[in-house]
Amino acid sequence: MRTPIIAANWKMYKSPAESVKFIREFLPMIESHGDSEVVLFPTATSLVSVIDAVRGSVIRAGAQTMHWLNEGPYTGQTSPTMLTSIGATHVLLGHSERRLYANETYEHVNLKIKAACAHALTPVVCLGEMLSDRQEGYTADTLMAQMGAALANFPQDRAHTLVIAYEPVWAIGTGSTASPEIANETHSIIREELKRRFGAEIADEMRILYGGSVKPSNVAELMAQPEIDGALVGGGSLDPETFSQIVRFGHRDKPERPA
Ligand code: PGA
Repeated sequence: MRTPIIAANWKMYKSPAESVKFIREFLPMIESHGDSEVVLFPTATSLVSVIDAVRGSVIRAGAQTMHWLNEGPYTGQTSPTMLTSIGATHVLLGHSERRLYANETYEHVNLKIKAACAHALTPVVCLGEMLSDRQEGYTADTLMAQMGAALANFPQDRAHTLVIAYEPVWAIGTGSTASPEIANETHSIIREELKRRFGAEIADEMRILYGGSVKPSNVAELMAQPEIDGALVGGGSLDPETFSQIVRFGHRDKPERPA
């Protein structure tokens, strides 16, 4: 059985003080939140405060990106060892906003996921097609190309540690979510490719999250789909009450997948 993950991508929002205030309000709201892992991805300057504030709770925290090297003359970058030294456990990689505005390519993502695994950071790798890809029938081809570059030569014995986030670019921040059926069907395409690369046993263990306008009103029907193992939430994660509802409604007790 795959443990669901409900993750918050805070993008470029919340100062350290605002982040800590969120956590103080949020923690009591999710006391009996079910079976999901909860992960926060705050902006870089808030990460240390967030890690301190969630210490001893069920919440984990990670960075929104990182470099693949441990140190070097790379202005503005943060390394895997820097993240682990402050207690980060996860790292978001290949988010479409990083691909669009910061030239993060899937070749970079490939180097970064290998570095993350070498440092016991859980990488959450974002994939997703543009609206034009979907309209022209290229969704599967786009996802295959993204996975081909991101997962090249990734060692099979580490694959179970990877988390994939399927985020159709047309659904991010737009209010228009993929229907549960479309999301589930696309997750199946991704899992088939993971099976081809890593074998069925490992692929069946891997979590595939859905992201793109997830809200309290749609999370339960998304999570009811057999291939959806959690959510990556942007706008809906900024308010503690709203995000706590997503965590509560996003919990599930999914039956074991048939062999
Ligand atoms: P959204 O963002 O929930 O605001 O659509 C999701 C994301 O970008 O990860």
